[in-house]
Amino acid sequence: MCGIVGYIGHDNTAIKTVLKGLYRLEYRGYDSAGLAYAESGQIKIKRAKGAVSGLNDKCKQIGPQTLAIGHTRWATHGKPSEENAHPHVSFKRELALVHNGIIENYKYLKEILKDEGYIFSSETDTEVLANWIEHAKLRYDLALEDAVHEALKGVHGAYAIAVLDSTGQKIVCAKKSSPLAIGIGEKEYIIGSDATPIIGMAKDVIYLEDDQIAVVTKDDLKIRDIDNNDTSYKAEKLLLDLQAVEKKGFDSFMMKEINEQPETVADCLRGRLTAPGPEIALGGIEAVMPSLLRARKIIIVACGTSWHSALIGKYMIEGLTRIPVEVDYASEFRYRRPIIDSEDVVIGITQSGETADTKAALELAKTKGALILGIVNVVGSSIARLSHAGIYTHSGVEVGVASTKAFTGQVAALSLLAIKLAYRLGYIDDEKLMDLKDALEEIPSQIQEILDDSTAIEGIADIFSQYEDFLFLGRGISFPVALEGALKLKEISYIHAEAYPAGEMKHGPIALIDEACPSIFVMPKDNTYGKTLSNLQEIKARSGRVIAITDVVDEDLVNSVDAVVVVPKTLPELTPLLTTVPLQIFSHRVAIKRSRNVDKPRNLAKSVTVE
Ligand code: AGP
Repeated sequence: MCGIVGYIGHDNTAIKTVLKGLYRLEYRGYDSAGLAYAESGQIKIKRAKGAVSGLNDKCKQIGPQTLAIGHTRWATHGKPSEENAHPHVSFKRELALVHNGIIENYKYLKEILKDEGYIFSSETDTEVLANWIEHAKLRYDLALEDAVHEALKGVHGAYAIAVLDSTGQKIVCAKKSSPLAIGIGEKEYIIGSDATPIIGMAKDVIYLEDDQIAVVTKDDLKIRDIDNNDTSYKAEKLLLDLQAVEKKGFDSFMMKEINEQPETVADCLRGRLTAPGPEIALGGIEAVMPSLLRARKIIIVACGTSWHSALIGKYMIEGLTRIPVEVDYASEFRYRRPIIDSEDVVIGITQSGETADTKAALELAKTKGALILGIVNVVGSSIARLSHAGIYTHSGVEVGVASTKAFTGQVAALSLLAIKLAYRLGYIDDEKLMDLKDALEEIPSQIQEILDDSTAIEGIADIFSQYEDFLFLGRGISFPVALEGALKLKEISYIHAEAYPAGEMKHGPIALIDEACPSIFVMPKDNTYGKTLSNLQEIKARSGRVIAITDVVDEDLVNSVDAVVVVPKTLPELTPLLTTVPLQIFSHRVAIKRSRNVDKPRNLAKSVTVE
């Protein structure tokens, strides 16, 4: 998630204020930073890969300024580097721009601009946007704010932008989907991707609405509507403290990230379901599709939560394409002398892109001639770079050590891959393809429905928070969801929790069952539901308490369990995207009840970069 900061006012403190704001946005995670200002009728920029402190060192010689814009970048298009860092100056240096979001049609706009002689210095969609606005400004001889309005008519995607020109007299802001706030100080204005940079600098704040444009000068703030007409606005009192804003008022980053999932799953799907025609657009793997389609087998390697999404991927890919899929713990794969050659495809799934075991497993597979794909969140990470091709999950920075939104991002990416392969191989027709695409489109709002039911789920967690042992059970594609639920609970609450295929209960685990060992069943009404219900009743018959996560209100079930959470209905292949969410909320609540540090659980690191 990128961060934007801007300052314009009568104090000559623009550079210091923008740097201070960028430091405050560090919690959002980033891989490079930069700032721009105007001096003697020229736009100047400073950018640095890595920490804001590196940028700060580059800005020490800048004289007093009354206007500046700054940015911390979380790479989505183009690797982390100084060239790809924002701000981007337009080709003819008419303007500089910082951007948070994803421009879906940037390739189309880039081709138009190239035909008009534009030359690009980065791989980013943001540079395309800067040049697209400059193109409008020069072509129609427009003021900056009018050029922004004109240019955005042709832009598809999510954006929050701040733009300055060489006059250094104003900052123009605009937003669609990504947030942007403007603090109103004493003869100064502070702009931020959220209120974080504004706290302590201004008491009043306005949050731009979609399709609005703000024109900010030292003495004035004007807001324009979608038709470029001035519109009124209402400032709010800024009552937040810094810590709260970073967590957006949630108890933890983990809960913030659980609640970001409607947006992050939508970001993963964005531009990939709406490609022209029936296809699924996965630009990162198009070049290797022929090899993928002729794969003799697919092996997926990962660790922890990512290994659980890998298991879900197995069910999806084998269920839809009939390509054999093996799933390995990366740490095991490396030492089992795997049977791989150039006929095989090895997929690494990883949020951080830096997990040592996963990286080593992929490097081993690469030496054997296999095609290497990465399903990665962090753009430009080691595993993203060592892969031949891949799919970015676009989940944004995940601060909580316990993975939540990255997991659903991985599952969403795997569903896109499975559907794409199945359609190309002819295992699904246009009708089934459209059914799957329509069901995927629904997922973000269905996740939101579950989040809206959080209080009920937390009430169940309060009742069950005192137990010291839990079993998580599921069949088919719900078994990896049970595994993920058990991992979430154990890693943040330190309660012993394990998962089994529900059919395995009779082969030993049921010996654990008594009043002190509750079971959580993941059981959407699919082809395994009946059998799972029988397993559940066997547990109830032995005084085991039971919570069920399902998608139907079935009388037999309701009469058999101690608590039930009903999630919205979707296609069987996609249920993990929904059944996972109540387990995240449940685990978080139990851990909070036990006063655990849910964002930084004991003994754990966010990225295990050592073996
Ligand atoms: C998940 O909650 C854990 N934090 C951990 O299991 C994690 O999924 C695992 O270390 C893999 O990390 P990666 O996805 O960054 O490779």
